[in-house]
Formats: sequence, C-alpha cells, structure tokens
Amino acid sequence: MTDHLIAAFRETVEERDGHQFRIPPEKMGTIVIFGATGDLAGRKLIPAIYNLWRAGLLPDKANVVGVARREKSHDTYRQDMCEALKTHSRTGHGDDDACLPFVSNFFYYQNNFAEEPDLRGLAEYLHELEEERGMPHNRLFYLSTGPEFFAPIIQKLGAAGLVNRGGGAGWSRVVIEKPFGHDLDSAVALNASIGEVLGEDQIFRIDHYLGKETVQNIFAFRFGNAIFEPLFNQKYVDHVQITVAETLGVEGRGDFYDATGALRDVVQNHALQLMCLVAMEPPAEFGGDDIRGEKVKVLRSVPLPDRDTIADTVVRGQYTEGGGELGYLSEEGVDPNSHTETYVALRLTIDNWRWAGVPFFIRTGKRLKKRGTEIAIQFKQPPTHYFKKLGLRMPEANVLVFRIQPDEAISLSFNAKPPGMDFQIEPVNMDFRYGHAFQKDMPDAYERLLLDALRGDSTLFTRADEIEAAWRLVSAIHEAWKHAPAPELYRPGSWGPNAAERLFHGCEGRWRALEDA
Ligand code: BG6
Repeated sequence: MTDHLIAAFRETVEERDGHQFRIPPEKMGTIVIFGATGDLAGRKLIPAIYNLWRAGLLPDKANVVGVARREKSHDTYRQDMCEALKTHSRTGHGDDDACLPFVSNFFYYQNNFAEEPDLRGLAEYLHELEEERGMPHNRLFYLSTGPEFFAPIIQKLGAAGLVNRGGGAGWSRVVIEKPFGHDLDSAVALNASIGEVLGEDQIFRIDHYLGKETVQNIFAFRFGNAIFEPLFNQKYVDHVQITVAETLGVEGRGDFYDATGALRDVVQNHALQLMCLVAMEPPAEFGGDDIRGEKVKVLRSVPLPDRDTIADTVVRGQYTEGGGELGYLSEEGVDPNSHTETYVALRLTIDNWRWAGVPFFIRTGKRLKKRGTEIAIQFKQPPTHYFKKLGLRMPEANVLVFRIQPDEAISLSFNAKPPGMDFQIEPVNMDFRYGHAFQKDMPDAYERLLLDALRGDSTLFTRADEIEAAWRLVSAIHEAWKHAPAPELYRPGSWGPNAAERLFHGCEGRWRALEDA
C-alpha cells in the first residue's frame, strides 16, 4: 500500500481527541507479539492496535511482528489479521480499504519459543527489519502465551540482547498477561526470575480492568470532586460491595479453569484492583509509582483470613446443572470430583485509619443471573428518630454505585418526598450515564493499555509488590480452604449460594440484585 493511500485514509481521523498522546515515528517501537496466532491476539490486541492506528495515535509505520509456532507467510498472517478485525474490532472494518494499509506493517516470524534454545535469530530479524523500514530500534514484546513461557521467553530475550536495560540502542519493554503466578511463592519466583533480566520500569503486567474507562473514572470521581471524597471513610460508609458477575460458564476452558478457580481468576486481580481504587489514599501525583504505592498500602492493611475465620469471611460455590446447561463437574476438562470454586464471596476489612470496621464485600462467579460489574458504596443509615415518631417509612441508606459494565454509569440514591399533602419519603436515584452524557465510543481497555505501554507509562499496570500483596491474601485463603468443607452448590441463573448472605452478619445490608442498580 502506498504512503499516499495510507495518508488519505488516516487524514479523516488525525485530529481526533487524545492527539497529545500521539506517538511520533522516532518514539514508536516494533510490537512483537509472542503467541501471535492465539485467541487473545486476534480478539483483543490486533483490534486495539488497529483502532489506535486508525485514530492517528500511532505513526503510519506501526511495525507488528507476530511470533508463533505455525508455519505461515507474511501474507497469510496479514489476511488472518484482517479476518480477526472483521470479527472483533469495535469499529467494525476489516474491509480492504481500511485493513490493507494497516496490515502492510505486519510481519510474521516463525519460532517455536517453547523449544528453540535462543532468540538470536529474532534479534537479527528485528534489527534488519527496522533498518530496512527506517524505524528506531525500540521494541514492545507482548507475551500473549501460556504463563509457563513467561520466564523462559524473558530469559531468552535477555540472552539475545533484546532487552537492554537503559542502553543506548533504543527502549525495550515487555508486556505480560495474567495469570502472573499461581500463588504467592510462584509469583515471588516469577518476579525474581524476570527481575534478573528486566528493570521494573520495563515490565508491564496487564490487568485489563485498569484500562476500562469506567475504572479510570474512579480517580476522576474521587479526586476531582470536593463533595464526595470527604465521605469515603469509616465515619460515613457502612460497607462496600464489589460484584463481578458473569452469565457464561467456563466456555471450553475447563482445564485452565479447574486449576484456577474464581478466586485466582478474578479476585486476585480485577476485584482487588477495584477495591484498591475505592479505598486508597489520594496519591501525591497522578503517576506510576504514587498510585501503585497507595494501592499496595491498601492490600497490606487487609488482615488475612485463616482456618478459624474462614467460615465467617469467605464462601465458595460451584454451579450445578440447570437451564439446559451442564453443571461445572460435567464440563470438559474438569475433574468430576473437583472442589474448584466457580463463585466466591469475601468479607474483607482494611485495617487502617480510614476504613477500620467497614466491611468490603467482594463476589464473583460464573453462570450467575446477570452479567455486570459494579462497586456499590452503602452509606450509614441516617437517624430514624423523626420517622419512627411519625410512623413513616424509614429512610433507606444512600448508595453510590459505579457501574463498570455494561450500561456504564454512576448513580446515587437518596430519599425524597413524593408530591402530595402527606409527608412520606421514598428513595430516588440520580443517574449519570456515559452513553447519554458523552455520546462517544468508549475505547477498549487494551487500546488504552497498549498505548500507555508504548509511551512507557506504567500507571495502569501492576507492580511486583502489588502482585505479591494480592497473592498473599489469596494464598492465605487457599491455605485455609484446605481445612474447609467443599464448595456450596448453586443453580445457574441464581445469584450464587444462599450461604453467601451469612457474610453480612452484624451489618446493614445484603447482596444487591444488580437489576436494582
Ligand atoms: C478474565 C478472566 O481475566 O476476565 C475471565 O480470566 C473473565 O474468566 C474475564 O471472564 C472478565 O473480563 P470482562 O472484561 O469481560 O469483565
């Protein structure tokens, strides 16, 4: 595709907002995707690169080198990626006019990274390609592979001289997908192994929740409004509920899921990150280490459950068959005697000055009644003295809800008097909906995160100590589960096991039905 055609296509989008984040050609890096033919690459990474490129945020020549085991020509790889765009890009496309200029930047490099002794061939290939295309020797390595390959690939990148630490030849960074470790010990070992090769500023551990617009908006909401932040503490908040609910089951990932479970799959990363963003102190600066430092303090202030407290603090569940769907134990790849949880609910506390005594309830599960992720902050009950005296309905506690997905919104419930001669009160909602307020497409989380990794901004990525602090909690629960009964069963299409209600002991409230949001 000629430069003229590329320019003609991109002219129309060049001045879209966010242009201050545009990466100039001399700062761009070659994006090298390990596991380039896998599901994540086609579903998320390529569409994200495409939408960044199309929005003019990446230079015309945005080199992408796909690395995978299968034999493939550059052309076949390009065609495959156009197909992936047709199916998965939020902006549609994949038609030739849009796709061909884009994939003309794509190259395929066959490599069996599990078995090849080194990556020197790749180092030479990248060098030549960059010279030929007049590009700087900057590289973003994206490890979209099984977790067992993370450490070996990084060691080989190091041995091939591909990840120079602060050398003059250009920048090199590595993006790692989850799962980052399987428990505390393996996460510590993985951090140590990759730390031999990479500086912390070169490691970008993805938690895609941090790239979601609505999650980033928690910062804006808390620290950009004078009227809410003073209420975020134990004086005013009764409890916080964080829900990550899914209607799907394990979707053909039985093997992976059975060795993982809901606690590792969603709580260790996404749900604890949401808790940290709600609970952390204002950072000194809106930058990488300040925010991450505050999040670590939250995680380290959570008392760990043990075998004596586990029953009062954690409930695990497993879906049975129902609604024409298989039960978890009959899913392919799942051990028929498995105790792996497809649902987990926790009651945590953050034992610091701001939050002592405020329960943080977290739940996540597969095959639940409704798909939805939200954070609900329930405030304390107002004094009911007048209402009792007049025999009126009691005021309901105010609830502030961040609806992360779907129908992204923030809503605040309060009590109001309905019109009429009577003095009654009823709860009403004040709603802000992204779709109505901004009438703009939301970028996908991977777009934000890839752009940040290319710019070297690690604010929205998790740091080594943060990962370890989250595993410390999760591993303590796994340890206590060794002495706990099997998971409670729940029917698909329900809100999980009834036993999860017991976590609310001594507290005003119960699990929210997401329809009420
Ligand atoms: C992933 C989990 O990290 O997050 C999946 O491995 C889960 O099991 C997914 O379905 C949820 O992400 P989202 O963005 O759909 O809420």
